[in-house]
Amino acid sequence: MDCIQIQGGCPLRGEVRIQGSKNAVLPILAACVLVPGVTVLKNCPDISDVACMCQLLRHVGARVDKQRDALIVDASAITSCHLPAEYVTRMRSSVILAGAMLGRCREIHLYYPGGCVIGDRPIDMHISALEQMGVQFTEEDGGLRARAVSLCGTKIDLPFPSVGATENVLLAAVLARGVTKICGCATEPEIVALCRFLQGAGARIGGVGTDCLTVEGVPRLSESCCLVEADRIVAGTYLLGVLSAGGDVFLRSALPGQLESVLQVARRMGAQISACRDGIRVERKGLLASPAEIRTAVYPGFPTDLQSPMLVALSQAQGACKLTETIFNGRLRMVGELNRMGAGIRVTGDSAYVCGPQKLIGCRVSARELRGGAALVLAGLCAQGSTEVSNRQFIDRGYEDIVRDLRDLGANIGVKT
Ligand code: EPZ
Repeated sequence: MDCIQIQGGCPLRGEVRIQGSKNAVLPILAACVLVPGVTVLKNCPDISDVACMCQLLRHVGARVDKQRDALIVDASAITSCHLPAEYVTRMRSSVILAGAMLGRCREIHLYYPGGCVIGDRPIDMHISALEQMGVQFTEEDGGLRARAVSLCGTKIDLPFPSVGATENVLLAAVLARGVTKICGCATEPEIVALCRFLQGAGARIGGVGTDCLTVEGVPRLSESCCLVEADRIVAGTYLLGVLSAGGDVFLRSALPGQLESVLQVARRMGAQISACRDGIRVERKGLLASPAEIRTAVYPGFPTDLQSPMLVALSQAQGACKLTETIFNGRLRMVGELNRMGAGIRVTGDSAYVCGPQKLIGCRVSARELRGGAALVLAGLCAQGSTEVSNRQFIDRGYEDIVRDLRDLGANIGVKT
């Protein structure tokens, strides 16, 4: 497979348009199954996870057409309840089709979802919540068959604000009988985006943006159009690229309100951050100062998806920092590859100890998952000499074209086949 080659030492300068949000568009695509008609999604990111979700929609009978950055989904006829393992095992968000298919057809056969190897990724909360709504799960052909004679609204207490479980229950609830109250739910911007999309199609949802959503089932949803918002994790990745390699960049379309926790850390480190309606400007002059401690947390805390890129920025800042990962127990695995470049990061349990600034030396490293792979590219921007990041397919799952974006910002970066 192709690898990404970076010649370090160039600061990032200029403007980059931030793509549509992967983690917003994937559940919205799944939600299209609930609409017996056409849904138009604009500003969809051109990434492999979206292509995979479109294949899954086609497998159940929907028509999906792509027109530039828009996807037109016609789910008038759903002809199958079987999701092929080939696609389901490629990404975590395939599991979100469960709630949508149960809402539409009251049945689905799927396999345990795949996705980034960033730690344990059970679906017990999804299953338990859907069972409380009347869904029966049985093991079948190495996968799961889920059926519901009828979906009944009820009060559901999520033991953890799981993003995926919140999405699955939402999608099962919008066409269910009665009222579903989801307490302890996730409050990420992607949940708000899904709720707004569903409301636009006629769903009745209260408490949007809070940790308690109330859904009153409706008989059917109607055709609608939706504009996908900018990807806060891609914006945060490039912002941390500037903190790592230096420079002055405008992140067009980035939404400051969705990155408050990250902007707060960046300002504390000494970066110049200015936020406006059209995006975020980030500038790094000279050496930044490390904060003593950072802990990842559910929204609005510091996002786990930016933990790996943050490690790179900390390795280039002055001082010691303890970064603790509280969401995924395998997300610090990529530290080994950073240390091969000289990052000198010590991992104890779920905490990484970074003492910067460290002189990184370019070498061949391997991406093993999406955000860790992006972090290795950022490390290559700061390293002396040439860095080759193999397995770029992991990065392409969530970044439309990280090589194009960084090259446009002045990085010496290319693809080596
Ligand atoms: C979503 O994953 C995102 N993926 C992840 O982004 C993101 O890191 C994560 O939310 C947290 O914000 C998509 O939206 C496609 P969770 P999800 O359910 O839904 C445990 C990226 O890089 N858990 O909130 O899988 C789980 O093991 C990806 O874009 C259970 O124990 O996250 C984890 O420790 C990576 N049982 C924690 O909850 C369950 O049934 C958070 O998981 C479900 C989750």
